[in-house]
Amino acid sequence: MGFKKVAEIQEFDKIEKKLVEVDDKKILLTKVGEGYYAIANKCPHMGGSLYKGTLKDGIITCPRHGAKYDAKTGRGLGKPKILFLEFKMQDDRSYPVKVVENDILVNINEE
Ligand code: FES
Repeated sequence: MGFKKVAEIQEFDKIEKKLVEVDDKKILLTKVGEGYYAIANKCPHMGGSLYKGTLKDGIITCPRHGAKYDAKTGRGLGKPKILFLEFKMQDDRSYPVKVVENDILVNINEE
C-alpha cells in the first residue's frame, strides 16, 4: 500500500531504465530528462518485456514487435503493424512516482 522505495537516484547516473518489482508487479522505471516515470513492464500487445526494449527520447520500443510507448505515460504511440496487419494497441498503465531525498518511490495502488 502507498509509495514503496524501488531505487535510489544515484543508480540512474549510469542507467536510464530499471526493472523493479512491487507487490509481484513488474514495473519499468525510467529517467526521462530530469524526471522519473513508472509504467507496467508488460507490453499490452503480447506481453513483451518493455525493459528489454530501447528507450530513446522518452519513447520505449517493445523488443518483440516494435510497438512504441510514451515512457512517461505508458500510452501507445502510432499504429504498429505485424505482417501488414494493424493491431489495436491498448494504453498501458502508469504509476505515480516521487523522489524523497535520494530515494525513488512508486505507488502501484493509486489509479
Ligand atoms: S509484444 Fe510488444 S509489440 Fe508485440
